Amino acid sequence: MGGSNRPESAGKMAKAVLGEESIELPIVVGTEGERAIDIGQLRNRTGYITLDDGYANTGSCKSAITFIDGERGILRYRGYPIEELAERSRFTEVAYLLIEGHLPTHEEEARFSRLLTENELLHEDMRFHFEGFPSTGHPMAILSSIINAQSCFYPELLLPDKQENFEIMAARLMSQVRTVAAYAYRKSRGLPFIYPNPDFKYSENLLHMMFSLPYKPYDLKEEVIKALDLIFLLHADHEQNCSTSTVRMVASSGANLFACVAAGVCALWGPLHGGANQAVLEMLNEIHRSGDDGSNFIEMVKDPANKQRLMGFGHRVYKNFDPRAKIIKAQSDRLLAALNLSDPLLDVAQRLEEKALSDPYFVDRKLYPNVDFYSGIMMRAIGIPVAMFTVMFAIGRMPGWIAHYKEILDSSKSRIDRPRQIYVGERERHYVPRDQR
Ligand code: SDX
Repeated sequence: MGGSNRPESAGKMAKAVLGEESIELPIVVGTEGERAIDIGQLRNRTGYITLDDGYANTGSCKSAITFIDGERGILRYRGYPIEELAERSRFTEVAYLLIEGHLPTHEEEARFSRLLTENELLHEDMRFHFEGFPSTGHPMAILSSIINAQSCFYPELLLPDKQENFEIMAARLMSQVRTVAAYAYRKSRGLPFIYPNPDFKYSENLLHMMFSLPYKPYDLKEEVIKALDLIFLLHADHEQNCSTSTVRMVASSGANLFACVAAGVCALWGPLHGGANQAVLEMLNEIHRSGDDGSNFIEMVKDPANKQRLMGFGHRVYKNFDPRAKIIKAQSDRLLAALNLSDPLLDVAQRLEEKALSDPYFVDRKLYPNVDFYSGIMMRAIGIPVAMFTVMFAIGRMPGWIAHYKEILDSSKSRIDRPRQIYVGERERHYVPRDQR
C-alpha cells in the first residue's frame, strides 16, 4: 500500500480520548492519500464500538480494484481513468482488467474471449426454469433466481480452491448473464429463445439473442453495439457500492460465486441503487405526460412533505459530477444523431438538469446527475425496454462483482463480515403465560 504522495499522517497514530482514558489507533493511508483510522483494537481496549448510519464514514476493506474521488469526480479502474477506457477500450477488455488487475496481452485476450464463447450456452435443463415464471415477472427476480440455480448445475465448480474452477465460473457468469437476460426478455414477450451465436462478440450477441427472430436476424448496427458496450464498460465497477458490498459480505462467509452474485443482483434491484435507471425513465415519462416543463416536479421534490426524489440525481460518494454521467450524456447525443432519432424524454431530462443545477436545494446538497440519469435515454435509443434497464446494469457490473469476490478469495487475511450493533430494545423481562397477558 502507499504511493509517492503519502501525507504526513502516514504511519502515525490517531488519539481518541474517551472519558478519563485515551487510546492511540493506527492511521492507514491509501495509494491516493485517503486516510483511515484502524479501529480493529477499539472494542478490545476500550469496550467502545463505532456507529455509522449507512457506513457513510466507514471503510469495510482495503481494495486495489477501483478508485473514486467523489469531490473531484474521478473514477479509475485499476488506475486507468474511466474517460480513457471509455474512449479506447471495450467492455470485455475492461472486464479482464478488473478481474486480473492488468490490461490483457493479445494471447490473454484471445483466451478470455474463447472462454466466454465456450461458456455462453446455459445448461439446456435451465430452460425449464423459465417456464415456471409468469411473463410479467420482473427480470431482476429471474436473473437472481437463475444465477443462483446455476450452482445446482455446476457443483464441481463450487470448490473455489482451484484456479481453473474460478476461471470457468467467472467465464460462465460473465457469458451466461447475457443469455439469462435475453431469455427473460423473450419470455416477457412470448417469443422463442434465440441461442447465442459463437461468431458474435459480447454485446452484439446479447442484441442478437434479445432481438433476432427465428426467420430474421437482428440488424446489428455498429453504433448501437458500441453504445451498449459503453454502457456495460461504464457500469463495470464502482468500489464499495451497496451491491458490491453485498457480494463481498456473502463471499466473506465462503459462499460460492453464483450465490454471491445472486445476492448482488438483489441489492442492485433497489430504486436507490441500480433500480434508479428504471425509476428515472418512469419519472421522465410521468413529467412528459403531465405536460410539466419540470418546474412543478422540482418543487414537489423540494417539499419535505413529499417523499419524491429526483431520480438519477445525488450520490453517496460523488459530490460533483459523476464522470460516467458526462460520458453517457455525450454518447446519447451521438447515438440519437447517428440513428436519426429524437427523444422528448431527453429534452425533459436536460430541462430537469438545468433547473436542478441552478436551484439552491440541489446545489447546497451537492446533488448532481449520476450514472442512472442519462443511461436510460441511451438504452431506449438502443431499443431496450425499461423493465430491462437494471438487468443491463447487472450485466455491466458482473466483472466488478467477480473481481471483488476474487480479491477476497485471494486474500489470506479475509475474515467473515459481522458488524456489531447498539441494542435499543427492551431490558430483560420474563415469559408471561398467555392467559395472564
Ligand atoms: C447508483 O454507491 C454507488 O457507487 C452506486 C452507483 C454504482 O455505480 O454502484 O453509483 C450506482 O446507485 C447511483 C445512485 C442511483 N440512485 C438514485 O439516483 C436515487 C436518487 N438518489 C438518492 O436517493 C440519493 O442521492 C442516494 C441514494 C444516491 C444517496 O443517498 P445518501 O448519500 O444516503 O444521501 P441522503 O439520502 O442522506 O440525502 C442527503 C440529502 C437529503 O436531504 P436533507 O435530509 O439534507 O434535507 O439530500 C437529499 C436528501 O433528501 N437528496 C435528494 C436526492 N438525493 C439526496 N433530494 C432529492 N432528490 C434526490 N435524488
